[in-house]
Amino acid sequence: MIKEQISLRKVRPDDSDLVLQWRNHPETRKHSFQRDLVSAEEHRRWFSKKLKDPKTAIYIVQDAQGRPVGQVRIDRAPDHWGEVSISISHRAKGKGIGTEALKKTVSRCRQHSDLKGLVAHIMPDNTPSMLAFLKAGFVLKKIEQVRKNPCCRLESLCRKDPTTGARRPQLIKKEGVGYV
Ligand SMILES: CC(C)(COP(=O)(O)OP(=O)(O)OC[C@H]1O[C@@H](n2cnc3c(N)ncnc32)[C@H](O)[C@@H]1OP(=O)(O)O)[C@@H](O)C(=O)NCCC(=O)NCCS
Repeated sequence: MIKEQISLRKVRPDDSDLVLQWRNHPETRKHSFQRDLVSAEEHRRWFSKKLKDPKTAIYIVQDAQGRPVGQVRIDRAPDHWGEVSISISHRAKGKGIGTEALKKTVSRCRQHSDLKGLVAHIMPDNTPSMLAFLKAGFVLKKIEQVRKNPCCRLESLCRKDPTTGARRPQLIKKEGVGYV
């Protein structure tokens, strides 16, 4: 699989089962704040709410053949940062797809959103995730507690250049579901 050929598309209602499958994979749960298995019923309610929520954007990561290999979710926080979470299917891990999907997410955010930036909270022992976010241009800002877990806060600015304070070009366009 050529990682440059991956693409992001908006999530659809019929992606529900796949998203649950990725969410419940042991590797994903190990690095989640909520480690319990999610039941099909609980997921169905959560997923249909998220699809309608204008503060959430979910993208399916597709390979060159258009097959789904993962998902990226951005939840807009009240402080105008977008919290990113990502999971890549077990069979597609370790091939650069997570890094590439994050790069595409950042680029989309810079062009199509009015967010201040993207932020991720990563558990310090989640090496693949730390590497993927850093390689996609995120910067480690500090360690902060999330639900009593010490986490690395990584940021990628959308609206302002951190050195000059200049605003980045923004389209401030809201397309379909979500902001980003
Ligand atoms: C984190 C995740 C999205 C990374 O996706 P991925 O496609 O496997 O990542 P990449 O292939 O782009 O790898 C990123 C880096 O991590 C390294 N890496 C991958 N798996 C690794 C492992 N098991 N141990 C150590 N490093 C690893 C890769 O070598 C790469 O570094 P390199 O380019 O210097 O070689 C994926 O592992 C995942 O879905 N994890 C479970 C969910 C999760 O933890 N999400 C993050 C919290 S939001």
